[in-house]
Amino acid sequence: MLSIVVPTYNERDNVLSLIKEIEKNLYGQRFEIIIVDDNSPDKTWSYAAQLCSLRKVVVIRRLNMRGLASAVIDGISFSRGEYVAVMDADLQHPPEYLRSMLNIVASEHPDLVIGSRYVSGASIESWSLTRSLISRIATLLAKLLLPEVRNIKDPMSGFFVVRKELVTVNKPKLKPYGYKVLLEILVRCNPKKVIEVPYIFRSRQHGKSKLSTKVMVEYIIHLLKLSSWRPLKFAFVGALGTVINLTILYLLGLLIPQLLGRLFILGSAIAIEGSMLFNFTLHELWTFRDRRGGPMIHRLVLYHLGVLPAVLVQYITAVGLKYLLSMNPFMAQLIGIFMGFIVNYLICELGIWTKKSV
Ligand code: GDD
Ligand code: MN
Repeated sequence: MLSIVVPTYNERDNVLSLIKEIEKNLYGQRFEIIIVDDNSPDKTWSYAAQLCSLRKVVVIRRLNMRGLASAVIDGISFSRGEYVAVMDADLQHPPEYLRSMLNIVASEHPDLVIGSRYVSGASIESWSLTRSLISRIATLLAKLLLPEVRNIKDPMSGFFVVRKELVTVNKPKLKPYGYKVLLEILVRCNPKKVIEVPYIFRSRQHGKSKLSTKVMVEYIIHLLKLSSWRPLKFAFVGALGTVINLTILYLLGLLIPQLLGRLFILGSAIAIEGSMLFNFTLHELWTFRDRRGGPMIHRLVLYHLGVLPAVLVQYITAVGLKYLLSMNPFMAQLIGIFMGFIVNYLICELGIWTKKSV
């Protein structure tokens, strides 16, 4: 038996056609439809409840809760099937794909089948340039920050079939937030076998999208939560490292004044190396503490090699500003540090701390 969870908020005009479409496409298959409505002002819950007596429909009306992701998790907890399909009510996720997704479930027994907009054969019917750009950038950000989704083409999909047990077993770890429930499941439930299938993302039938600026801000916060706030930690370590860098330079100047003048080329280099060792230690112990798989010495060497481009940018900027523009050595060093920072972050995130700790 397949359970189908449909979160709704003001979808009164869509639910009946959705249910009809599902019934048509799953004819002969055992299934239940669970509508999880957050007390919609348009009374979707009441309208949908009238359909319950006739059809295999259950309505959950949540009175004090609001949120797509938590609605989906509640629906999954309530469901009875071994597998649960999650889809939107507005027919953007066409029910005609359910049958083929079920066939994959039957033959492959995966943890997840994802209806994907970004694998070959898929397409999006009518999105404005802005909306597709937002989606692309959001997907890219997720892949940058979350190694768990780097090999998934559409981790932001709202259309998927999940093995119910994967969610129930990991439920204590889930903190549903915002819109992207699939992202939450991919990161916190550690699915092993994930299959993506193409689908055509249709235009909305009635009503309008609830995707607002608030949803986008929530998305960024959700990403930061899922990444254990890593970019902020990284930036914090970088700021501390900057202080260390400039302090070393200052102390060197007290010891040997030429290191800030004629020998700045040496003074700058020593300060850079000192702060690099400091940053590395903090990244090991804090920023990336959950990603310390393999020998530490390996990462230390990799870190030196990896941050070389950033260090070179930093060093050349500082030395250049000092010798060519006769800039104050501390100012030159600081601007150099800033230039190197972004390059540094990208390399650490994507190249050095990549494997989970054991
Ligand atoms: N219960 C509940 N509570 N349902 C909600 C809420 C809420 O707070 N907000 C939205 N929904 C329901 C809508 O009624 C709809 O059925 C579904 O969640 C998706 O909302 P839309 O507003 O239509 O979202 P979208 O079309 O912009 O984006 C959807 O599709 C994308 C592509 O698959 C979402 O599912 C995205 O997460 C997904 O990336
Ligand atoms: Mn929609």
